[in-house]
Amino acid sequence: MRAFDHAQTIGLLEAPAEPGAELAPVALPASAVIGMRDCEQDQDQVHTPVLLEAVLAGLDPRVGGRYIDGTAGRGGHAAAILSRSDPSGELLALDADPVAVSMVRRRLAPFGNRATVAQANFRDLLGVARDRGWDGVDGILLDLGLSSPQLATPARGFSFAIEGPLDMRFDPAGPTTAADLVNTLGEEELANLFYTYGEEHRSRRVARAIVEARQRGPVTTTTQLASLTERAIGRHGPTHPATRIFQALRIAVNAELDALAAVLPQAVALLRPGGRLAVIAFHSLEDRLVKKYFQQEMTTCICPGSQPVCTCAHRPTLRAVSRGATMAGDDEVRTNRRARSARLRVAERL
Ligand SMILES: C[S@@+](CC[C@H](N)C(=O)[O-])C[C@H]1O[C@@H](n2cnc3c(N)ncnc32)[C@H](O)[C@@H]1O
Repeated sequence: MRAFDHAQTIGLLEAPAEPGAELAPVALPASAVIGMRDCEQDQDQVHTPVLLEAVLAGLDPRVGGRYIDGTAGRGGHAAAILSRSDPSGELLALDADPVAVSMVRRRLAPFGNRATVAQANFRDLLGVARDRGWDGVDGILLDLGLSSPQLATPARGFSFAIEGPLDMRFDPAGPTTAADLVNTLGEEELANLFYTYGEEHRSRRVARAIVEARQRGPVTTTTQLASLTERAIGRHGPTHPATRIFQALRIAVNAELDALAAVLPQAVALLRPGGRLAVIAFHSLEDRLVKKYFQQEMTTCICPGSQPVCTCAHRPTLRAVSRGATMAGDDEVRTNRRARSARLRVAERL
């Protein structure tokens, strides 16, 4: 239950008693979890990664530079970074998912020893880079969340539209599945999980329905959970009611926000002066975390606002490369629905 323990440390169990009292709902399109353009059967099919041109403009890969893609996925961004830094730029591509790692190895094979691909969680970024003798890098990319092949593979359990086991682990060797959480957490804990990580205001109703269903036997499949969620809270608008429930479970199973909070300072520690960090977030929980971290690292003082005199001696480590977040234009969204919720933030190491 490691993933859930991490979740507790960031206040999962401290959600307000009345879900809905404080959190403003985010516009979370169904595409954040399901229904992306990308249910390709051929998982090696060359795809255009999200916000590709903006990522390249932000990272500005150069000949001879060293880069890390912490979320290699299908290797689309990674291949583009290697092409831009041709002929001598190097890239370390990481993914927690061994299936993604095999895919990326094939995709990056033409770059020879300029590309290294490894299965690793980006929460261990600093150690993984240093193990390879990399103490400083010129750019780091994190394109958060799940990939299209993961979503489209029933056995991975990410999609409520296709029947599969309730798994949702990026790394299949991870300690906790979504089924573990759904079948062992108490009603209150489930409600708080759905509220905190899914920003689902009807979280209590879904939690109650799950606990009632469990009396008849364990909830084991994606479609079982999707239909009991729909029965519990009904359909309102175009987004499937299970969207936020699945998002919450995926975040908890993979301890996604903890991993993100852990990697940001490691990325800053690894970047050489002038090196850049680019992060693409797909929902407001991630984006808020990145935005706050960047703001903190760009400011000279992090003392509480109530303190009249600065005592923190904080030194900024980052500067903004562009104002605010970059979002996909209409053309990209038309061809790639997933891009609709993407927000890219880029900062440069001072
Ligand atoms: C949106 S996809 C990346 C797509 C990629 N940029 C491309 O061009 O194909 C996100 C990938 O990040 C991986 N991932 C998510 N969290 C991770 C973590 N903490 N450590 C390593 N990989 C992670 C997922 O397994 C998934 O393959």
